[in-house]
Amino acid sequence: MTIKNKTIIVTGGTSGIGEACSKTFVARGANVVMASIQQAEGEALEAELSSTGQAKFILCDVTDEEQVKELIKNAKSTFGQIDAIHCNAGAWGKGTVEEFDDVIWNKVMGVNVKGAMLTAKYGIPALREAGGGTFLMTTSVAAQIGFPQHAVYCASKAASEALLRCLTTDYAGVVRVVGISPGTVRTPMLAASCEGWDRPVEELYAEVAEKIPVRRLGEPQDVANAAAFLLSDEASYINGTILTLDGGTFALPPW
Ligand SMILES: NC(=O)c1ccc[n+]([C@@H]2O[C@H](COP(=O)([O-])OP(=O)(O)OC[C@H]3O[C@@H](n4cnc5c(N)ncnc54)[C@H](O)[C@@H]3O)[C@@H](O)[C@H]2O)c1
Repeated sequence: MTIKNKTIIVTGGTSGIGEACSKTFVARGANVVMASIQQAEGEALEAELSSTGQAKFILCDVTDEEQVKELIKNAKSTFGQIDAIHCNAGAWGKGTVEEFDDVIWNKVMGVNVKGAMLTAKYGIPALREAGGGTFLMTTSVAAQIGFPQHAVYCASKAASEALLRCLTTDYAGVVRVVGISPGTVRTPMLAASCEGWDRPVEELYAEVAEKIPVRRLGEPQDVANAAAFLLSDEASYINGTILTLDGGTFALPPW
């Protein structure tokens, strides 16, 4: 299972799932470009990973077309070509539709849908130039589950899965397009989504873990292991597929 010497861009590559992916890809010999809006974290991670491998941080807001264009250009000039893109940057926001406004739309739809579109718009031509490559998206079980007070987030993740299928069709023969749909993964985003409850986060996590058939939350490393496989040549026949990575949550009956 090898991703050795591949150049991989990871958007949102400096926190949670993306950070674990960046570290895992570098540990397995890939050249990694981490792109996010977290300058301090990005620079620190670049310094940490550069001591054992090839890593570069590029500050990039994926909702900004010029910045995404620059990201791809900069990544190409750093490592010569781009073999894979892990479109993972994500934003979360709470609320029912009655709390809906342009702020939450622009944040959540902006990053999760527009950001993914722009990453594909500029990233796919670079993959084509390299002779084909893999476009991996982090979606979510929120595409299928109506989580309470997650209207915009759930809609955004359903949109990202629809986009994944369209990319698979439009770039058939050029780019392999795959997804990972995580369930509940212990990251800063999950912690933020648990704020405001009447119990400590760890207590909430323990309660959720009991409801997951593997009896634990997902860890960022679980996603990184699956991502490294999906980006490897051994996964070359996996295309248009979204891997559900939820510890068996979807298998549970509702009682
Ligand atoms: N944690 C979970 O339980 C869970 C479950 C399913 C799917 N996901 C998805 O996994 C992905 C990673 O989330 P996470 O849980 O690691 O969260 P996180 O908050 O730890 O990381 C999100 C990353 O996205 C980056 N980001 C946010 N806005 C950005 C922007 N405008 N431009 C560029 N980068 C931006 C952040 O800087 C950060 O690096 C997201 O797409 C999220 O929706 C998470």
